[in-house]
Parts: sequence; structure tokens; C-alpha cells
Amino acid sequence: MNITMLGAGYVGLVSGTCFSEFGFNVCCVDKDQEKILSLNSNIVPIYEPGLESLIQKNKVSGRLTFSDDIDGNIKKADVIFIAVGTPTRRGDGHADLTYVFEAAEQIAKKMDGYTLVVTKSTVPVGTGLEVKEIIKKVNPNADFDVVSNPEFLREGNAIQDFMRPDRVVVGYESEKAKKIISALYKPLYLIETPILFTDLKTAELIKYSANAFLAVKISYINQMADLCEKVGADVHDVAKGIGLDKRIGNKFLHPGPGYGGSCFPKDTLALVKTANDNNSNISIVDTVVQYNAQRKSDMARKILNELGNDFKNKKVSILGLSFKPETDDMREAPSIPLINSLIEAGAEVNAYDPQAIEEAKFYLKGLDVKYFDNKYNALENADALILVTEWKEFRSPDFKRILKLMNTNVFIDGRNQFNYDQMKEQGFNYSQIGVK
Ligand SMILES: NC(=O)c1ccc[n+]([C@@H]2O[C@H](COP(=O)([O-])OP(=O)(O)OC[C@H]3O[C@@H](n4cnc5c(N)ncnc54)[C@H](O)[C@@H]3O)[C@@H](O)[C@H]2O)c1
Repeated sequence: MNITMLGAGYVGLVSGTCFSEFGFNVCCVDKDQEKILSLNSNIVPIYEPGLESLIQKNKVSGRLTFSDDIDGNIKKADVIFIAVGTPTRRGDGHADLTYVFEAAEQIAKKMDGYTLVVTKSTVPVGTGLEVKEIIKKVNPNADFDVVSNPEFLREGNAIQDFMRPDRVVVGYESEKAKKIISALYKPLYLIETPILFTDLKTAELIKYSANAFLAVKISYINQMADLCEKVGADVHDVAKGIGLDKRIGNKFLHPGPGYGGSCFPKDTLALVKTANDNNSNISIVDTVVQYNAQRKSDMARKILNELGNDFKNKKVSILGLSFKPETDDMREAPSIPLINSLIEAGAEVNAYDPQAIEEAKFYLKGLDVKYFDNKYNALENADALILVTEWKEFRSPDFKRILKLMNTNVFIDGRNQFNYDQMKEQGFNYSQIGVK
């Protein structure tokens, strides 16, 4: 079976590589020629643990190729995955489906023989049927089926998530399509992965519903953290106390500076728009969208307050820039509004991240941020240290060395990585989220 992955971004690259690891012939195509050029020169454009070696292994086996010949690879494909971006549409917050519809047209024009067209991108309910209509309109004789197969991988853990997912969701219309998609995921049947077969619209909605639920959970614990600070309670114990209840579960109960990344912000917003269009009450998610945006600016303000609001000639060192650890993705990272606010307030910002510095330079373009290739260098003469992203390498630094390097002992931990009392004992003026 020949698979063509349309879009070699996070999702296309990881899924394509993993399908080739399952034993299929996969060609990842992308209209970004530079991306294809670098993949063909053994340079992986994103940082994702384990991805580089898995790509290399499958390239050598001949099962995984990269190409900018989109038409040629549509033609020879038995299965085409649409894995293009669905960003927020400018101006109204809906998911922008331009790339998905362009892809559908391209497929329609070049497909040859029966082809299964699978949407992996996160798309609003009804998009699969629109893709079907586009293909039929452009190529009335096309022999094809459409399937919705939303992707749930998390950046930073993407390969493991693809190879050992909690579940696979498949929306389908014909038995033939079901049979083909079942064959693609056969390796997962062997490890007893639940595969949920449903209709197209339901599959599309499951993806948004899952992301929105997780965003609600994060925002809930963030609000609890705020309340804990006000009443003098400890949010860690609140999270533990509720998380032990199996109906609640202990995941996604870590307070922080608000969720970011390429998915939650845009997907929650798009879900609200879909519900509004259908006159359906979605006030819970609507509130979360607004609260999370507010939280990011509140966090910046809170940090400025803690630092005394006087930033003239003050040096603030930021550890961690990516929206979460183990990825270099800076999309919607909480570090962006924070650094903007610090610089606006007159501070000098030093920054270090194990992987995201190049991406950060793009997302913080025009801001006078000094980047360092080592966490200790970034801390020299700092008047405050702010931990923004909880990379593993920040878990047990040399605290004595840090105190010697810094001008002060001010440490604001935006991810609650350390024990409050121990940090005080070490000599830090240490503060956390949700602990007074
Ligand atoms: N990143 C994640 O963690 C994640 C997880 C689950 C689902 N998703 C969803 O998957 C989709 C893709 O996300 P991503 O993060 O991989 O996006 P991305 O921006 O990293 O990659 C998209 C790629 O598609 C390419 N592209 C666009 N139009 C094309 C076309 N017509 N032909 C060929 N290539 C084309 C772009 O050049 C780009 O390289 C989105 O809908 C997203 O919401 C993302």
C-alpha cells in the first residue's frame, strides 16, 4: 500500500515516519520546498525526541521518502492523508480551511484509480463532507472514499503517542474504507489499542471535544491556584486530593502560566465558533478561551509586581521558551507575552532554552532579547530568574552556582518544579504559582 502524506509538518512527518515503521511505503510531500530539501539532506526541521533516528532508519530501508512532487505522489497513492495546517482564520476565530480545501482540489485533479482520502488535520465538524463535495465537483469520475482520522499525538512525546496511542478514532462511510484504514492500523490491534469507528462528523467532533476538555481542566486548576494564593492554601495538595479521585484523574492538574501551543488555543476557539454557528451553548469553553488569554497577561503582571515594578537596568533571566518541554515549538508559548511585557517595562531579558532558541528568535523578532547557549551563562548578574518551561535539564541545577552567578536571590517558578521549603532553605527568595 502506497501512502502519501500531504504536509510534512509535525503531524505529517511523525505519522508518515511511524506508518513507514509499521512497514508501509510512505512519501511525505510538502509545498515548502526548503522543508523537503532539508529532510532530503538529513536535517529534521523540528525537534522531536527520537524522530531523527526513526526517519533515518526508515529512509535507509527505502520505505520513507520526501518529495516536493505533490502531483506525482498523489497519482501513485492508494491512501492520501491530509495533514496540513488549520490555523485560526484571521478576523473571526474560525479554523482556516484554506489549506485543507486546496489539498482536496489538488487530490481531485491528480488521483488515479480508487483512493482513500483521510483527513488527519484537526477540522471542524462537516469538513470531511465538504472535502468529499470538492473532490466530486473537481473530478466527477473520481473513485474514492473519505475518512476522518484525527490525530491525538502530543509534541514532545509524539512517536510514543503514535505507536502506543490511548485510542484511534476513525470516521468512515464505506466498508471498503473501514477495511483499508483497519489494515493501516493493524500493528496497533496487536497491542490491543481501542479503535473507535464512527461517522465522519462524530470523529471530527471528538478531536475538538478532547482538546477543549483538557483546556478546561488546565484552566480549572489555574483558577484553583489563584484561589489558593488568596486564601493561603496549597494548590499541589488540592490537585493531589482531587486527582486521586478516579473520576477526575491526576493528569492535566498542574498550574502554570496558561496553555499555549499550536492546538489548544486555536481548537478551543474554533469549537466555540462552531457551537455559536449552530446556536448551541458552549459557555464553559468560551469562558476558558477568554480566561486563558487573560491568564497569560495576568502572569506577566504578577511577575512584574513580584519584581517590584522597577526594571530600569534590571536583568531578568528566562529559563525555557518553548510552549512545553521536549519541543522547539513556540506557537502561542506563554514566554512570548511575558517577554514582551518585561521588555515593555524596561527590563533587559536574557534567555536560554535547550532547543527552541532559533524558533524563539523568529517569534520574538524585533525584541532585544539576549540568547545564551547555556543556562548558567544566561543567569550571570541576573536580578531575577523566571522558570517558564520545565525542561528536564532544569530539574536539578547547581543552586549554589546559580546564587553565586545572580545579583539577587529572586526565583519565580512558573511551573512549580521545586519544593518550596527546600528552595527557601537554599537561600532563594522563591515563589510559585498557587502557594502563599
Ligand atoms: N502539532 C500537533 O501537536 C498536532 C497534534 C494533533 C493534531 N494536529 C493538527 O494537525 C494539523 C497539522 O498540524 P501541524 O502542527 O503538523 O502543522 P504544521 O504547520 O507543522 O505543518 C503543516 C504543513 O503542511 C504543509 N502544507 C500546507 N498546504 C499544503 C499542500 N497543499 N500540499 C502540501 N503541503 C502543504 C505546510 O507547508 C506545512 O509544512 C493541524 O490541523 C493541527 O491542528 C497538530
